[in-house]
Parts: sequence; C-alpha cells; structure tokens
Amino acid sequence: MSTAAIMSVEGLVKTFHTGFLGALPAVGGLAARLQLKGVAQRVEAVRGVTFRVERGEVFGLVGPNGAGKTTTIKALMGLIRPTAGTGTLLGHPLGHTRSRERLGYLPEQPYFYEYLNPREFLDFYGGLFPMTARERRARAEQLIDRVGLRHAVDRPIRRFSKGMVQRIGIAQALINDPELIVLDEPMSGLDPIGRKEVRDLVLELKAQGKTVFFSSHILQDVEQLCDRVAIVVKGKVRAEGRLGELLLDADHPVEIVSTHVGSAARETVTALCDRVMDAGETVRFHLRSVSDRDAAVQALVTSGARLQSVTPQRRSLEDLFVEEAGRA
Ligand SMILES: Nc1ncnc2c1ncn2[C@@H]1O[C@H](COP(=O)(O)OP(=O)(O)O)[C@@H](O)[C@H]1O
Ligand SMILES: [Mg+2]
Repeated sequence: MSTAAIMSVEGLVKTFHTGFLGALPAVGGLAARLQLKGVAQRVEAVRGVTFRVERGEVFGLVGPNGAGKTTTIKALMGLIRPTAGTGTLLGHPLGHTRSRERLGYLPEQPYFYEYLNPREFLDFYGGLFPMTARERRARAEQLIDRVGLRHAVDRPIRRFSKGMVQRIGIAQALINDPELIVLDEPMSGLDPIGRKEVRDLVLELKAQGKTVFFSSHILQDVEQLCDRVAIVVKGKVRAEGRLGELLLDADHPVEIVSTHVGSAARETVTALCDRVMDAGETVRFHLRSVSDRDAAVQALVTSGARLQSVTPQRRSLEDLFVEEAGRA
C-alpha cells in the first residue's frame, strides 16, 4: 500500500475580493486604498492551511462558523482557485478532473432537483460516471437501502425532511463507489437520530476501507468518529493530530477512586486535589496534576486504603477548541 496521502494541502490561502467592483482586482484595490467602504472588501477566508489525510482514516476538519472550512473544502474539490498554496487529491494536483472519478462530495448546502424522487435523482448523478444504465440502477437501489430511504422511494425530494435530504445527498456522494468521501457539515441541522444515522454510515464506510473527510462544528460527532482532526480557527490550523494525543496534556489531571480512606491519608491527598467527592464508602480524588499521582497513591496504600482506580482525565474536544479559539 502506498504511503502517499490520499488528500493534502500545503500553505493554502484564499482571499476573496467582494463588493461592488471588488471582483476586479485593480479597481477593487484602488477602492480599498481610498477606503470606499462597501465598494470593495478583502476577506482572508483561509490564511495558510496545511494538513494531510491518510488512506483509510476518518479525518475531521473542525472549527467554528466562518473559520474557513467550506472554503478549504472547495479549494480541495477544485471548485475555487487558491490564492496561494498547493495540494493533491487522489494522486493528482488540485483541480485535476481525473481525481473526481474516485471522489464523492456532499456540499454544505446542496441544491437538489427537488421534483425528482430518490431513484430518478440517483440515476441522474450516476449518469455523470461511466456506468451502464443497468449498473446505475442497481447501484441506486443498493444506496436507497443503505441510507434508509426505501420507504420514500417514490416521494419527491421537496417533501423530504432535512435528515432525509442529507441522506439522499450522501447516497449521491457514493454513487460512483468512491475511495474518498468528502462531506461538508453532514450533521448540521439534523436531530440526534439523524446524526446517529450519519455517524453509522461514516463508520460503515470506514469499515469498508474508504477514507472519509468531513467538516463539522459539532464536537461530539467529531469526537466519536475521527481518527485525526485539524482544528481551524480564523483561517489557520491551530492543532492537528490524533484526537487522543491532542486531548491528553503532558500534565493532566488524574482521578483516584478509593475506599477505606483514613483521615490522615485523606488530608494528605486532599491537599493535592482541586476536588474531593464522597459517595458512601467511596472517595473520588481529583488530583490537579499527574506529577502528584505516585505520592497520592502511596499515601493511600500505606495508610491501608483500598484503591479502586487511577484514571487520567482527558480534556474534552470542547476544552481544546475553546482554548485554541481563545489563543487565536
Ligand atoms: N465567496 C465568498 N466571498 C466572500 N467571502 C466569502 C466567500 N465564501 C466565504 N467567505 C467568507 O470567508 C470566511 C470563511 O467562510 P467559510 O469557508 O464558509 O467558513 P466555515 O465553512 O468554516 O463556516 C467567512 O468570513 C465567509 O464569510
Ligand atoms: Mg462551512
């Protein structure tokens, strides 16, 4: 198996010039210099983003609204031209049409032909790939079952719930049996059941050896699904890596649970804690720092206390997120 990334970007920058005349760089620049507000504006949507996605992983692009996730994805998909930076997609440079053959993509706000039913809709998208009519139909039927829309197979998309629209969108992204599936905010606007359905689909795809890349601002979904993440804030990657590693500080708190804690040991260990909780016989000590772990354990054990567990306390993705957003 190749060790080359299935998708990568390096130093991606995208600056939009907007407003009246803003699209004409010369005139827009002049207007900006003259500070003609509302005439021309520069939006630095992406300000130097670098990451690589390995084959077979679920990768999350995480960040608050307006962080530059959709812009990054559009550049990866070859839909917009980067201001600067390079990248590869399925072994081709960004924007190369050949890479689309093995790519599935669900845009953030997909526009669907809403008078079509799922069968007609998938048949239409299948027609964009080199498949026979028979293959196309078989694939559409298979996907309709896969995304749980069999009951709505004759219903036009305009009568779908938001969750159903998202599911037909994912089916569309899978019509060509892609190696890499890119989903922009696939869980947004879904209720908990809808989100679980999308999560299960992502895990199923991973089990089949596919690579899934998705953006999200819903941290719980990211935490449950992703092997690795990149956290984007204000157009820059603030952290990238395995979630477990990102969430475990070098110096992290530890929880010690014990029974039979005598008063002397309790006093010693409490001095190292920011919180101590009692539940009947059981005492839960929250040590401030892992560096006090051995001393605390020793104080308890030598006093005759019975240890139940010693557990490192992971930060939540939310903690990390808020921290990185604050630092930005
Ligand atoms: N076509 C565009 N023209 C001007 N500004 C844009 C355009 N697309 C996105 N932006 C701006 O770029 C920033 C990043 O947007 P986006 O990539 O959609 O963020 P996210 O997907 O993380 O919410 C936002 O400030 C947004 O308003
Ligand atoms: Mg977006």
